[in-house]
Amino acid sequence: MYAAFRSIGAYVPERILTNADLEKMVDTSDEWIYKRTGIKERHIAAEGEHTSDLGVKAAELAIERSGLDKSEIDMVVCATISPDYFTMPSTATLISTKLGLPPVTAFDISAACTGFIYILSIAKAFIESGMKKNVLIIGAEKLSAITDYTDRGTCILFGDGAGAAVISATENKDEAIVEVHTAADGTYADLLMTPNGGTGSVHDSLDAESSFMQMKGNETFKVAVRTLTKDVKDILAETKIEADSIEHFIPHQANYRIIKAVGDALKMREDQVVVTVEKYGNTSGASIPMAMNDLYEAGGLKKGEMMLLDAFGGGLTWGSALVPFSPK
Ligand code: COA
Repeated sequence: MYAAFRSIGAYVPERILTNADLEKMVDTSDEWIYKRTGIKERHIAAEGEHTSDLGVKAAELAIERSGLDKSEIDMVVCATISPDYFTMPSTATLISTKLGLPPVTAFDISAACTGFIYILSIAKAFIESGMKKNVLIIGAEKLSAITDYTDRGTCILFGDGAGAAVISATENKDEAIVEVHTAADGTYADLLMTPNGGTGSVHDSLDAESSFMQMKGNETFKVAVRTLTKDVKDILAETKIEADSIEHFIPHQANYRIIKAVGDALKMREDQVVVTVEKYGNTSGASIPMAMNDLYEAGGLKKGEMMLLDAFGGGLTWGSALVPFSPK
């Protein structure tokens, strides 16, 4: 049995936080933010709108586009670092119930911005082993809840949103996800972390405010470019697929300069590279499926086209994937 990428969906909350808005909150400028990151605006969830609510809206679209009935979904996996609740219940469980699914397997994973590639690999493994047939994967983030809006080094980068996909069993090898790479290295844990709020915390509190993200941006940038370039070159070499033959390079949307550096190292043409960071900022585990959904809704993603995904994030974690788009 193989795993096929059947459908995509995404959702962004209504409220937009522009660079001009941020100029009123911290000592920064639209020019600085755009030049260093490529970001113009990001979406922010409403009060009372939780990560699971964003995930449900993305998932509803993905299920509808898969042509499956909800009752056919037999597992839900959510990648998030901003869950509705810090420990339990999992956001995947809440999404599953809000969607009205039967009581299927549901759990979250924590791999920060690489989350979508991790859940893609989990779906692939469960399907190829024969344990599950139709897996709903969701990257959902309300990063505004863990962002320090007094820290100009981080608050300009992050936004909220969700993306979802349905991965299904197929006997047709042409439809199959070709390869997924995932990796992690805790040596670099302090580059990007929420140092408070857990059992390793210097504070006792588990409240949201104590769990703001902290980042060494400059070092993160350099490690990201180096690691991603190597990982993507490796996956292409292993699978003997030429960069030139990939229809869509859909990288994690953290910073336009990282995307450009990796794209250039791979000699990608501009028309191959999907860039949405300008509109959404960095939405961590949600960014790849959100970018993919934009491409799909613009009519740019067709059956059989090959997607190359790559991501990098806190942990540090990173990964890449070669995935043909295989709607029914
Ligand atoms: N507005 C204006 N100035 C800012 C600023 C802001 N929002 N944020 C930082 N600065 C200042 C710094 O204080 C520093 O000032 P100084 O030279 O007087 O000390 C100067 O800009 C340069 O800071 P630096 O951190 O070296 O900038 P940078 O070129 O590395 O850009 C990031 C900062 C965060 C945009 C960049 O490092 C980055 O994008 N890193 C990767 C982040 C990322 O993608 N993380 C997620 C991975 S999934």
